[in-house]
Amino acid sequence: MKLNIALLAGDGIGPEVIDQAVKVSDAIAEKFNHEINWRPGLTGAAAIDAVGEPYPDETHEICINSDAVLFGAIGHPRFDNDPSAKVRPEQGLLKMRKKLGLFANVRPTFTFPSLLDKSPLKKERIEGTDLVFLRELTGGIYFGEKGRREEGETAFDNCVYTRVEVQRLAKKGFELAMTRSKKLCCVDKANVLETSRLWRETVQAMEKEYPEVEVTYEFVDAVAMRLVQWPNSYDVLITENLFGDILTDEASVISGSMGLMPSASLGANIGLFEPIHGSYPQATGLNIANPMATILSAAMMFENFGLKEEGQAIRDAVNKALNKGIVTEDLSDEGKSFGTKEVGDWLAQNV
Ligand code: IPM
Ligand code: MN
Repeated sequence: MKLNIALLAGDGIGPEVIDQAVKVSDAIAEKFNHEINWRPGLTGAAAIDAVGEPYPDETHEICINSDAVLFGAIGHPRFDNDPSAKVRPEQGLLKMRKKLGLFANVRPTFTFPSLLDKSPLKKERIEGTDLVFLRELTGGIYFGEKGRREEGETAFDNCVYTRVEVQRLAKKGFELAMTRSKKLCCVDKANVLETSRLWRETVQAMEKEYPEVEVTYEFVDAVAMRLVQWPNSYDVLITENLFGDILTDEASVISGSMGLMPSASLGANIGLFEPIHGSYPQATGLNIANPMATILSAAMMFENFGLKEEGQAIRDAVNKALNKGIVTEDLSDEGKSFGTKEVGDWLAQNV
């Protein structure tokens, strides 16, 4: 297969982890006879510095003319501590999601047998966890009208959803549930929020189209609790943008390190693949960041092209590295850790 992949490294540790994912993907391409044409573009603080815009039109052009986007991380502390900044790196990410129509964010959480002791949660609670969040990504409070009134003394962010937005996300949820254990949980706050009542009503109406799927409805606060109490009781969860943002960070703790969890953002056309972690500015350039989440995001990218064996080869290599202790410091037992680049090299050689 010939693949054109837009490569957006972004900020902080983004470029370092992206380099490793490129290396591993190239090794996969060689092994399985594919041809990958990487097409780099600017995003985030790096793009603001270069052209004054976190998601420049040139980058968008590269993305829409590619088969997929591989993305590193976005964000810089210079902006976090300046609430009055007019342009922010994160705006680039939001603009990109919207312009590329990436309404479904797929965030799996799974455990690795060799890492069960790394989670702050008890082993017997997390063992066997294998769940997927489908987070709505282009609507809700992130994109509603926002602003200030009363001379800046009052601020507001509106949360808005249309039935169509809920339906297209829920459809992906039902379809995913059909390929797994046929359990779907709709996470909302329907006891308080009108948008949540629209979610619930819409999903309920879709149930008859998927008679085999067992649907449950749970309030987001209760899910936040049960997620760390009995994570392995969940399978596919669908939810709105902000709830999904919060719950997926919480869920990443189950796996033992945020540095391990990949994600895919899908829409009608091209997909975007990125680690769920941020730009980890303190680690920039130190060769200590865990590249596995980005490498596993590349695995999701291959799988999304229907290249299951390629994805599996990456997953197997990551498992092997974890078993052998070829890991960065976030996962190592005292004294024995490897650099970002060394982990990438090892994986490229072992796929
Ligand atoms: C994420 C991030 C983003 C979000 C930020 C960087 C805008 O936290 O992808 O989860 O809130 O969606
Ligand atoms: Mn987040």
